[in-house]
Amino acid sequence: MRALQITELTGPDTALQIVDVPEPEASHLMTPGSGVVVDVEVAGVSFPEVLQTRGEYQIKPPLPFIPGSEVGGTVRSAPAGAAVQAGDRVAAFCMLGGFAEVAVAPEFLTFKLPDALDFAQGAALILNYHTAYFALKLRGRLAAGETVLVHGAAGGVGTAALQVAKGLGARTIAVVSSDEKEQVARDAGADEVVRSDAAWKDEVKELSGGGVDLVLDPVGGDRFTDSIRSLREEGRVVVVGFTGGSIPEVKVNRLLLNNTEVIGAGWGAYMMSKPDMNREIGAAVDELIAGGAVRPIVSRRFPLDRAAEALKTIDGRGALGKVVLDVRDQAPSVGP
Ligand SMILES: NC(=O)c1ccc[n+]([C@@H]2O[C@H](COP(=O)([O-])OP(=O)(O)OC[C@H]3O[C@@H](n4cnc5c(N)ncnc54)[C@H](OP(=O)(O)O)[C@@H]3O)[C@@H](O)[C@H]2O)c1
Repeated sequence: MRALQITELTGPDTALQIVDVPEPEASHLMTPGSGVVVDVEVAGVSFPEVLQTRGEYQIKPPLPFIPGSEVGGTVRSAPAGAAVQAGDRVAAFCMLGGFAEVAVAPEFLTFKLPDALDFAQGAALILNYHTAYFALKLRGRLAAGETVLVHGAAGGVGTAALQVAKGLGARTIAVVSSDEKEQVARDAGADEVVRSDAAWKDEVKELSGGGVDLVLDPVGGDRFTDSIRSLREEGRVVVVGFTGGSIPEVKVNRLLLNNTEVIGAGWGAYMMSKPDMNREIGAAVDELIAGGAVRPIVSRRFPLDRAAEALKTIDGRGALGKVVLDVRDQAPSVGP
């Protein structure tokens, strides 16, 4: 099969090579001896793959290896008892191996793709939307009627969080850095949008009538203290990532003063050993798709042999919604 391997840890420009390798067996690292084999149509691209090209991600397989954590495609074979079967259109989280014509995922991380979503949206579904639901609802205890502030709101996690929060009945305020990103956040359903380079904390206080209930933060860095200051009494900040580059520190007296909380939400490693929780989140996301709230925004598509451009789009803060690779087409790229 045709696939893309990371052959050296020298960054997006030079780390990747198109190769012809044998198809994988029906066995996944997380479920040895068992796995759903998927004919991949589209592979999702995210921050971890950028980091993997430099050897900076926590999962460091021996070289060479095929990256790619999630795909949209068609089931070729599935283990007995799986919720999917041969011929089903699916979204699958394979963790590695997605940048290839055939990939394998654990059955508990393979979900039937509703008719409303195409393969590219399937490749944009699991990492971002399961994380958003996990962070907002299971960790952040979001309730209908609450107000949520979403940082990095035009990105993959950000657009997912806006849609999931709306679907759960919340009001949303998006923080973004440009006009183009403001439009994407509005397309994802943001009720209000503020700019990260303006006095956003004061605007947020005003827009929310004194403070928000929840902040979802995939960015971190300098803005963290203002995120805590943006909370109302008993508000929560959910920490999801650090695209801003630095890991913030909290003076905990701030939490005491206003009875607030900082909560961690790490979907990846935590979820890998919890099949039932994955199924529960999958069912909740399905409901949000059926209700029309969840529609992944795919802004850029590249053929497999132009994956370096996809990775550099993310690395350069240029991703709007999700970036994907068309694994089979050798079609020209789509997007700005
Ligand atoms: N905790 C978990 O379980 C989990 C799961 C999935 C992803 N994540 C993490 O969540 C983060 C976001 O992922 P994503 O897929 O949403 O990324 P993304 O699509 O690239 O979006 C990230 C957003 O961060 C903002 N940002 C602020 N400063 C930035 C900088 N210096 N460089 C790049 N972006 C910057 C950008 O928005 P503005 O330009 O508008 O500021 C950008 O849109 C990543 O760190 C990822 O590893 C965590």
